[in-house]
Amino acid sequence: MGAMFRIYSLAALAGVGLAQQAITTSGTNFTLNGDGVSYLFHVDDKTGDLISDHFGGPVDDFTPPAFVLPWGWNDGLANLRREFPDIGRSDFRLPAIHIKHADGDTVTAFRYKSHEVVEGKPALPGLPATFGDAGNVSTIIVNLHDNVSDVSAALSYSIFPKYNAVARSFQITNNGTGEISIEKAASFSVDLPALDLDMIEVHGDWAHEFHRVKRHIEFGETTFRSSNGFSGHLHNPFFALVTPTTTEGSGEAWGFNLVYTGSFEATTEKFSNGFLRVLLGLNSLHASLPLQPGEKFVSPEAVAVYSANGVGGMSQSFHDLYRNHLSRSNYTHEYRPVLLNSWEGLSFNINETALVKLSGEAEELGIELFVNDDGWFGVEYPRNNDSLGLGDWTPNPAKFPNGLKPYVDRVNNYTIANTSQLAGEPLRFGLWVEPEMVNVNSTLYNEHPDWVLHAGKHARSLTRNQLILNLSMPVVQDFIIDTVSGILDSANIQYIKWDNNRGIHETSHPSDDYNYMLGIYRVIDNLTTRYPDVLWEGCASGGARFDAGLLHYWPQHWTSDNTDAAERLTIQLGTSLVYPPSAMGCHVSAVPNGITGRNISIEYRAHVALMCGSFGFELNPEELSAEERDAIPSIMQEAKRINPIVISGDFYRLAIPDETNWPAVQFISKDASEAFVLAFQQKSTIKPAPPPLRLRGLDPKARYFNDYDNGTYSGATYMNGGINIMFERKDYVSHLIWLEKQ
Ligand SMILES: *[C@@H]1O[C@H](CO)[C@@H](O)[C@H](O)[C@H]1NC(C)=O
Ligand SMILES: *[C@@H]1O[C@H](CO)[C@@H](O)[C@H](O)[C@H]1NC(C)=O
Ligand SMILES: *[C@@H]1O[C@H](CO)[C@@H](O)[C@H](O)[C@H]1NC(C)=O
Ligand SMILES: *[C@@H]1O[C@H](CO)[C@@H](O)[C@H](O)[C@H]1NC(C)=O
Ligand SMILES: *[C@@H]1O[C@H](CO)[C@@H](O)[C@H](O)[C@H]1NC(C)=O
Ligand SMILES: *[C@@H]1O[C@H](CO)[C@@H](O)[C@H](O)[C@H]1NC(C)=O
Ligand SMILES: *[C@@H]1O[C@H](CO)[C@@H](O)[C@H](O)[C@H]1NC(C)=O
Ligand SMILES: *[C@@H]1O[C@H](CO)[C@@H](O)[C@H](O)[C@H]1NC(C)=O
Ligand SMILES: *[C@@H]1O[C@H](CO)[C@@H](O)[C@H](O)[C@H]1NC(C)=O
Ligand SMILES: *[C@@H]1O[C@H](CO)[C@@H](O)[C@H](O)[C@H]1NC(C)=O
Ligand SMILES: *[C@@H]1O[C@H](CO)[C@@H](O)[C@H](O)[C@H]1NC(C)=O
Ligand SMILES: *[C@@H]1O[C@H](CO)[C@@H](O)[C@H](O)[C@H]1NC(C)=O
Repeated sequence: MGAMFRIYSLAALAGVGLAQQAITTSGTNFTLNGDGVSYLFHVDDKTGDLISDHFGGPVDDFTPPAFVLPWGWNDGLANLRREFPDIGRSDFRLPAIHIKHADGDTVTAFRYKSHEVVEGKPALPGLPATFGDAGNVSTIIVNLHDNVSDVSAALSYSIFPKYNAVARSFQITNNGTGEISIEKAASFSVDLPALDLDMIEVHGDWAHEFHRVKRHIEFGETTFRSSNGFSGHLHNPFFALVTPTTTEGSGEAWGFNLVYTGSFEATTEKFSNGFLRVLLGLNSLHASLPLQPGEKFVSPEAVAVYSANGVGGMSQSFHDLYRNHLSRSNYTHEYRPVLLNSWEGLSFNINETALVKLSGEAEELGIELFVNDDGWFGVEYPRNNDSLGLGDWTPNPAKFPNGLKPYVDRVNNYTIANTSQLAGEPLRFGLWVEPEMVNVNSTLYNEHPDWVLHAGKHARSLTRNQLILNLSMPVVQDFIIDTVSGILDSANIQYIKWDNNRGIHETSHPSDDYNYMLGIYRVIDNLTTRYPDVLWEGCASGGARFDAGLLHYWPQHWTSDNTDAAERLTIQLGTSLVYPPSAMGCHVSAVPNGITGRNISIEYRAHVALMCGSFGFELNPEELSAEERDAIPSIMQEAKRINPIVISGDFYRLAIPDETNWPAVQFISKDASEAFVLAFQQKSTIKPAPPPLRLRGLDPKARYFNDYDNGTYSGATYMNGGINIMFERKDYVSHLIWLEKQ
């Protein structure tokens, strides 16, 4: 985004304005203040190091640090709380920055040189980042220099006061005369005092993403990472630190999230003195980034949020920050069309006739966007299954004898139902692509075997029969830009589902992963800038790249290939710890579920999927039962009313499936005038009775009508007393309840 910012001298800062409130400097004591957060650090006079003073609720003063008896081996920097730790000068903890210098040593001695405060936020060259104008965000840049190795570092801290969020990144410049190598780079690093904390993170796998785990932080390292080249299914570059008494609605929570799509590493290290180091950044196995004299390394950005209102308060800060200051799509704040995806209905057995027929059935259901999934391309190697065709993005002539345009025109010729939000518009058309990948069975691979990621003569190991193009190569970037823009120019395509179905194995150098990310960001920056009115959805075998890096460019991501409503609820609530529900793609699929075999009613499946910004269906309409078909018109009505509040409202996890048989979520409009609750019963039980459903965020004095018992009660009654739902004696039953302020 626009790097519109002004440089303020310290004298000017004595004046008025947000910068003065959000960032104050006194000598080299630095204070960042948000509505409910303070972040304090200063320069140590003796060593020139940056020292952490406070990251938490609001404070007014710098106070002396905890006294640690300096006897024993842990002296010097080991007992200081540091902002940008290196190694080799008495600090035995893990570093945030580890550089192999031209001389071969890895000792770094960054000392404070200067700082500047800027209003707004400079863009991060080549990488996704939060953005904002003066008035939304203020930034302090602290310049450090290692005069032995002649390497400099510029640390950037941006405070978004409204969201209690601090975004951090840094740049390293090789000012010397020989090559250096960045071995480790943690974008966020802060040393917290000796507090007793737990870590909440999400672990998973394919079809099993975003499962919440909580562990106590003990002495030593608590760590998780992705080493598969992408943010991945196994973990997400997010974690929260909470006190043992923090709940969903109360207590302290610190959330950390990396704005990056490659391999990452998240670590806390509790040292003997009790101080807790927090590190989040690149996976050091995929670093070793060479820097020639004069070159610069830009770290990804990491965002930290502080909440005094529990885990839920932390999530809401991330949701609002990301919707307002990370996701830059035209669609971020817009209604998302209800879609039908062809995959479950037709799989690879597609052609113009079959798809036009399916889109006609979509029209009858009131669908707004018809999505053509895999299988449409490949000339020499027709994409009839997953062993061939990837990389050859030309419509297959046997399936589409007239190309894409006449076919898309036929889809557009259907009209969106008059009950819909988009009543009367032509049925929209969307297309699936997986442009980072190639099959060996393809014209592209035959012509350019050197374009794929590989390691010299080592075998190029296949996953799902495919290889990965090396996106660090400009020629590959340009190929993808030209190919995808060619497709978009060829027909009226209003939505793209951009898939990515394998992890990175062999690379020629550990730095390939970071350089791949610079490449993919260049490609999608280019395409989303040129096609701002296309609705882009990320997908990576489900939620493997559901990360803040891609959400900068694309407003939504497919959450999981697991569409079983029971499992999906857990996955979606895990995702909502950090990412807004408005960014999730969620569909109703057929039963029994293809993955779990579970048979759940269409109402429950819809209620789970409707909590996401992008709602749709992934089934063959012909296979719907009469009962399911009858339910669809009211689901469509619900979708139309729900979607605007999911897109812009506040979200509460009232109860989560890991902890109760009766999970529930609530959305409420920003003005608290309208809210809805989705309440679920997983298992039918004799005893105990479900707990009262206590709502959140209402105006306590206002009165609200609810359409469950048709009562009108005060906000306080709903929040403190709650409403009691009588669930049917069945497994997997749900209720949608609307509240309207009177
Ligand atoms: C910075 O804070 C320290 C307390 O940690 C205080 O002694 C010192 O006077 C402050 N310096 C300035 C210039 O405000
Ligand atoms: C950012 O600040 C500008 C200027 O104060 C304001 O107009 C705009 O609404 C703010 N944006 C957000 C998302 O708060
Ligand atoms: C680096 O700076 C420190 C502190 O100013 C100084 O003591 C030291 O001599 C300098 N070293 C070199 C190689 O310039
Ligand atoms: C290091 O190089 C950068 C980029 O050329 C320059 O801006 C900076 O002033 C240099 N720093 C030092 C200490 O030489
Ligand atoms: C189109 O696909 C359908 C469904 O797979 C198939 O029944 C039909 O024969 C195909 N038509 C043509 C012309 O290939
Ligand atoms: C995949 O499709 C190709 C081309 O139609 C066909 O020759 C091959 O047998 C298919 N492979 C599998 C595993 O179905
Ligand atoms: C669109 O539909 C109309 C009538 O419903 C028909 O005359 C026209 O040929 C159709 N156009 C396309 C591109 O299918
Ligand atoms: C909406 O469409 C239905 C069926 O196509 C039709 O019966 C009804 O009159 C239409 N309503 C309006 C307001 O156009
Ligand atoms: C190429 O395609 C054929 C036909 O589907 C398949 O049998 C073969 O395994 C594929 N080769 C590779 C390397 O994927
Ligand atoms: C996108 O890339 C193409 C070719 O690679 C270039 O010509 C064009 O200027 C770029 N556009 C944007 C908006 O970056
Ligand atoms: C989408 O965004 C682009 C670039 O920011 C802008 O020019 C365009 O008017 C927007 N389109 C809509 C429909 O808002
Ligand atoms: C609430 O009112 C609606 C509409 O008037 C009615 O259908 C429903 O039965 C009422 N529910 C209860 C519990 O009274």
